[in-house]
Amino acid sequence: MAQDSHRLSGSDLGREKSRKLSPLGALKPFIAPYRATIAAAGVALVLAAAATLVMPVAVRGVIDHGFSTEDARNIGRYFFALMAVVVFMGFASATRFYLVSWLGERVVADVRDKVFSHVLSLSPRFFETTRTGEVLSRLTADTTLIQTVVGSSASFALRSLVMAIGSLVMMFVTSPKLAGLSVIGVPLVLAPIILFGRRVRNLSRESQDRIADTSAMAGEIINAVQTVQAFTHEDRSRKIFHDAVEDSFRSAIKRTRMRAVMTALVISLVGGVVVGVLWAGAADVLDNAMTGGELSQFILYAVLLASSVGALSELWGDLQRAAGATERLVEILRTEPDITSPAQPTLLPKPAKGAVRFEHVSFVYPARPEHKALRDFSLVVNPGEAVALVGPSGAGKSTVFQLLHRFFDPQVGRILFDGVDITTTEPRAYRANLAVVSQEPVIFAGSIADNIRYGRLDADDSDIARAAEAAAADEFVRQLPDGYNTIVGERGVTLSGGQRQRIAIARAILRDAPLLLLDEATSALDAENERLVQQGLANLMAGRTTIVIAHRLATIQRLKRIVVLDQGSIVAEGSHAELVNNGGLYARLAALQFNEARALAV
Ligand SMILES: Nc1ncnc2c1ncn2[C@@H]1O[C@H](COP(=O)(O)OP(=O)(O)O)[C@@H](O)[C@H]1O
Ligand SMILES: [Mg+2]
Repeated sequence: MAQDSHRLSGSDLGREKSRKLSPLGALKPFIAPYRATIAAAGVALVLAAAATLVMPVAVRGVIDHGFSTEDARNIGRYFFALMAVVVFMGFASATRFYLVSWLGERVVADVRDKVFSHVLSLSPRFFETTRTGEVLSRLTADTTLIQTVVGSSASFALRSLVMAIGSLVMMFVTSPKLAGLSVIGVPLVLAPIILFGRRVRNLSRESQDRIADTSAMAGEIINAVQTVQAFTHEDRSRKIFHDAVEDSFRSAIKRTRMRAVMTALVISLVGGVVVGVLWAGAADVLDNAMTGGELSQFILYAVLLASSVGALSELWGDLQRAAGATERLVEILRTEPDITSPAQPTLLPKPAKGAVRFEHVSFVYPARPEHKALRDFSLVVNPGEAVALVGPSGAGKSTVFQLLHRFFDPQVGRILFDGVDITTTEPRAYRANLAVVSQEPVIFAGSIADNIRYGRLDADDSDIARAAEAAAADEFVRQLPDGYNTIVGERGVTLSGGQRQRIAIARAILRDAPLLLLDEATSALDAENERLVQQGLANLMAGRTTIVIAHRLATIQRLKRIVVLDQGSIVAEGSHAELVNNGGLYARLAALQFNEARALAV
């Protein structure tokens, strides 16, 4: 996991490395709307702490007065008071628990929502450099860490802090002398904890790294177990693993030894201070300078103080982890989409005509800045016209579609839609004019009908059936067990490539947009189905602007305008006959394809 986050940030923010708590401040805007809840939780927290702090006083009352004969009838009163305090404390604690947990759940739900919604607005570049698993782990694991902190650790820490301060104050109130003595003992106890604590922490990080190494190694070997066996390297692998295990054993023992020394020191020092203070207290009680009840009260406060401080030191780690998680989430939230809407977007004419114009466009992908995917590319497609783009793979055909979608903006030149520079438009409003069938159609887990309806969410069943018929999908869909309601697996794994393509075509047909982009839309179809789909597509193309990328030239032969692309530039343009007559790249491609077909036919 640690490596994954390196990948996203490119910085040194490992999953466990960040020590500062300041990133937690980024949660402020998420917590701020719930001020009232926080205030209520704070009140409950203070009340519960106050009730806890009252307990030792009540205990002193019971001891000092409850057990002496003259006060015997009072004992009921003291116990009753104690009972009331306990019940009150219970209710106040439960209230705090509920409110704070609610806050944690609420804040995490908001953070998840915000991050997901932001991720959806990001440009392809983000997804090229960030792995999906990384984003998902941030949405789930990191937000859960935040929930722990907001929903429990933070309030626990606050409670411990209040209790620690309260206990300390009450210790001084109860017996300034004993409290003073204890405070002198504190550095004695803290010094070894601080000294050894850091070393233990470092050693435990080291031993955790060793364990991670070991399991990574085991994973690698087991995944390749057949190769290991095939090369009869079992003994070697056993030795490698054995050494790794021994390594992690040694580092675990080193840590344990340090811990043992620290435990011995801390227990004897704490015990020494406690015994010393008790001794002094007992002497006071014997001298009648203090009652037995007061001594008990003092000891109870000391115990509360010790446990609060102990809790605080353990919570530190939680807070650090949550700070790291927050930092990683904020990093996503601060990632700006490359493609944004200008403050005053130009409105596109309505209804759209579908005129497309590339003016001297040059473009490199951010991931490959040294390679020009398009160079000085100019193309005019008039409303209602159909143009084919052909060329060898890697020529830049799909890139033309990526730019038309405004997934990227070209570095040089402009792209106009209906005469408007598309970089001046609001991306979503502009994209509503496009319908695309991409090279690798995307099918979502869900029913066939849902997948087609993706083209236009308000389409009814008859619209869907009509679109499917035009895409030659109706027949195969009806043969599925549940027809249009058949659930296709994730990414459409239960469909063949050709079936997926026909669903995608039906989706584009349903979208009914003025500009239709077909990227090798029929490449996975057999000849029979392709003929059927071509008919549907021909109907669809009538009256709208279409750009067709085709690998099989047979499918675009009848188009009047064919644009030949090679290495990002237009090298020729014309009808099939013209281009064949001219010789050149197209003629070579055509000769290859049609001769092959003839050879196969013979
Ligand atoms: N996301 C990307 N990042 C970097 N380079 C890319 C990306 N997509 C495509 N390319 C490169 O851009 C060039 C044109 O690709 P593309 O438009 O997909 O070609 P075609 O669709 O004509 O086969 C190729 O050299 C390809 O390697
Ligand atoms: Mg392509």
